[in-house]
Amino acid sequence: MTTRRTLLALSAASLAAATLPARAATPMHVHTAPSCGCCHAWADLARARGHAVTISELVDPEEEKTALGVPLELASCHTVEAGGYVFEGHVPFEALEAVLRDRPDIVGLAVPGMPMGSPGMGDDPAARYDVIAFGGAAGAGRVFYRAGTAQPFAG
Ligand code: CU
Repeated sequence: MTTRRTLLALSAASLAAATLPARAATPMHVHTAPSCGCCHAWADLARARGHAVTISELVDPEEEKTALGVPLELASCHTVEAGGYVFEGHVPFEALEAVLRDRPDIVGLAVPGMPMGSPGMGDDPAARYDVIAFGGAAGAGRVFYRAGTAQPFAG
């Protein structure tokens, strides 16, 4: 016999199942820059968000970033491979997870340099910087996400 209590439990469980995939453990490989602490700070935040993170250190950053498809003018410290995409630098997780969920025709996202307040660089949600898409039909330098604005995904 179905009680109101089990119905509530069931709807809570299906709600959890419906919201889980965006946060499910995505295998993620972080290539860190030699002797760079903020790369590890970003990787720790990825782990805290539930992603399955592995780490190795870049030996020749320019060559390895180029091989992964990162335009060097968009380079930062670490380079991340996840879900068939490449994420360069201190990319906010809301933007990264939107790419993994929506699978746009891009090679990846980049936050050039190391903007203060980005994840792993102070974690200030109000910090204002752009996340740039690169590669593919929908990439080519388009601003994908405007961190620190009210509508970060608005073109
Ligand atoms: Cu770093």
